[in-house]
Amino acid sequence: MTKGVAVVTGGTRGIGLSISRALLADGYKVAAIYFGNNEAAINYEKEANGNGKAFKFDVANYEACERGCAEIEQELGEIGVLVNNAGITRDGLLHKMPPENWHSVIETNLTSCYNMCRSIVPKMRERNFGRVVNISSINGQKGQFGQANYAAAKAGMIGFTKALALESAAKGITVNVICPGYIETDMTGAMKQEVLDSIVKQIPVARMGKPEEIADIVSFLASDKAGFVTGSTIAANGGQYMA
Ligand code: CAA
Repeated sequence: MTKGVAVVTGGTRGIGLSISRALLADGYKVAAIYFGNNEAAINYEKEANGNGKAFKFDVANYEACERGCAEIEQELGEIGVLVNNAGITRDGLLHKMPPENWHSVIETNLTSCYNMCRSIVPKMRERNFGRVVNISSINGQKGQFGQANYAAAKAGMIGFTKALALESAAKGITVNVICPGYIETDMTGAMKQEVLDSIVKQIPVARMGKPEEIADIVSFLASDKAGFVTGSTIAANGGQYMA
């Protein structure tokens, strides 16, 4: 039994891979978008065993998204679920931040949401059904030292979600945003150990989160059970920040 097609940007690694796995388990065909790591894409396709495919394109590039999403619909079928998960960090203090580190983070993390939604939402509107889930961050809610670019992009995703939820509600499309806290992935693994340790000390549940703990929320938001949930900002941060 297949439930249709789900698209997960950054879907072959980290939180995105867990989301792809959860949606495969839920019965979707899952298109995982990636841009860098070919090996992870090959592994994902093996694991998906014919129910998932990796598509390589840059979510920061509008034309690439339009082409890529058309290709996904042609190969896998109608897209019912879109998860905007792809994200990068270029951490550094603002007074030392080169313009390229500002622009690359804004374009990959925030403009990508426009690019992907602009490519997919018109068809969801025609079909009167859709589920959009955006993956923001605790740092878009509370700010973070060394992350003016990332916090701005992630906060932008929250406003984007609310506006699109309003525009889409009458068309059977829900749009929600999840704000994960510090999760065990390559992204947090790249941080200086002492900085990470000092952050973990601020988490009331006294541990980092697991990617599966974010994927479970996506699974719920994508399901029929969540039809009344739209425009919501869902925090999953072990109590580190209570908005
Ligand atoms: N508050 C106040 N002051 C701070 C501070 C803080 N949180 N952290 C550092 N400082 C101070 C330092 O003590 C230092 O002061 P002195 O010069 O007087 O010694 C000064 O600020 C510079 O700090 P660093 O030495 O750390 O500066 P750096 O240039 O070596 O490193 C940085 C900067 C890379 C941004 C580093 O601070 C850092 O890694 N910060 C954490 C960023 C972070 O949380 N990234 C999350 C990545 S994972 C992710 O983003 C996923 C998600 O969604 C949660």
